[in-house]
Amino acid sequence: MPVLQQALLAASRRPGLRRVVTGTPVTRRVVDRFVAGETLPEALDAVRALAAEGIAVTLDHLGEDVTDRSEAQRTRDAYLALLDGLAPLQLGRRAEVSVKLSAFGQALPVGGEDVALQLVRPVVEAATAMGTTVTLDMEDSRTVDSTLGVLAELRRDHPGTGAVLQAMLHRTEDDARALAVPGSRVRLVKGAYREPASVAHQDKAEVDAAYARCLEVLVRGGGYPMAGTHDPAMIERLLALVAETGRTPDSYEFQLLYGIRPEEQVRLAGAGHTVRAYVPYGADWYGYFMRRLAERPANLQFFLRSLATK
Ligand code: FDA
Repeated sequence: MPVLQQALLAASRRPGLRRVVTGTPVTRRVVDRFVAGETLPEALDAVRALAAEGIAVTLDHLGEDVTDRSEAQRTRDAYLALLDGLAPLQLGRRAEVSVKLSAFGQALPVGGEDVALQLVRPVVEAATAMGTTVTLDMEDSRTVDSTLGVLAELRRDHPGTGAVLQAMLHRTEDDARALAVPGSRVRLVKGAYREPASVAHQDKAEVDAAYARCLEVLVRGGGYPMAGTHDPAMIERLLALVAETGRTPDSYEFQLLYGIRPEEQVRLAGAGHTVRAYVPYGADWYGYFMRRLAERPANLQFFLRSLATK
């Protein structure tokens, strides 16, 4: 992984830098490109605009790594308010939500996983009641077993609960095989966290090759694959695989992040594919934003240019 990328990912976890970056007024303009606003009404406006273009959404109330139970309860309440706000739009499964278990207390020192399960369950129940689903985002590699454990618990009563797998991790091909079963919704991404060589591919070409292999496992399997990527090569790979396997457009989807390759989102939706934009909103955008800067030199250049033209 390039040094700059490593530095940005390390910075995404540093509270001191968080204060500097979020305190810079100009940052806001750049953040707006990747984040659909700080409030629920702003996020709902973005959902309406995307729906008008034929694009489905998964909403992420920004936040991660909470340090006490009351913060985790606030995350639950924010998601319940989000689902209440989505209900009148009547988008059904075209508006789902994505959660990070670390925002529900997963990393709390005592019983974190139980706290997260207990607090996320009412969100999943509310989503099921309105005919939609929840996907559990995947965070750094130390959380994978715990997150897949919570997923298995939730899927007992709510089989539509979605999983995320990160192609960069050595374990993921096996996880993909285990999860490629009927009814199983799995988003495959490359992986946005800095990981050691003991658990993850370090070379981009190796990550890409692993992504293609895992995608094939998912598409040839019996579940519902969701390709979370902006990479034209991986998008082409999914198109080729669905043509080869005869999958119908209601049996897989493309997922892209809000604000990234929007013209491609519209193009794929116009061609009859299900396209879902991952729409983050909320005040706690720092970690999300720093991971986007780390992903792509062009994103960082855009940020630096806007600082220079302040
Ligand atoms: P990559 O970054 O390797 O880029 C490959 C190519 O894609 C580029 O060469 C370019 O052609 C094109 N491209 C990429 N970004 C572009 C841009 N901004 N503008 C124009 N072209 C661009 N991660 C995680 O660890 N856990 C999670 O739960 C999730 N969830 C998630 C949901 C969704 C819907 C998406 C799309 C992504 C995630 N991720 C994630 C992030 C993911 O792991 C990964 O970091 C990013 O998607 C970047 O990887 P890409 O596959 O897009 O390709």
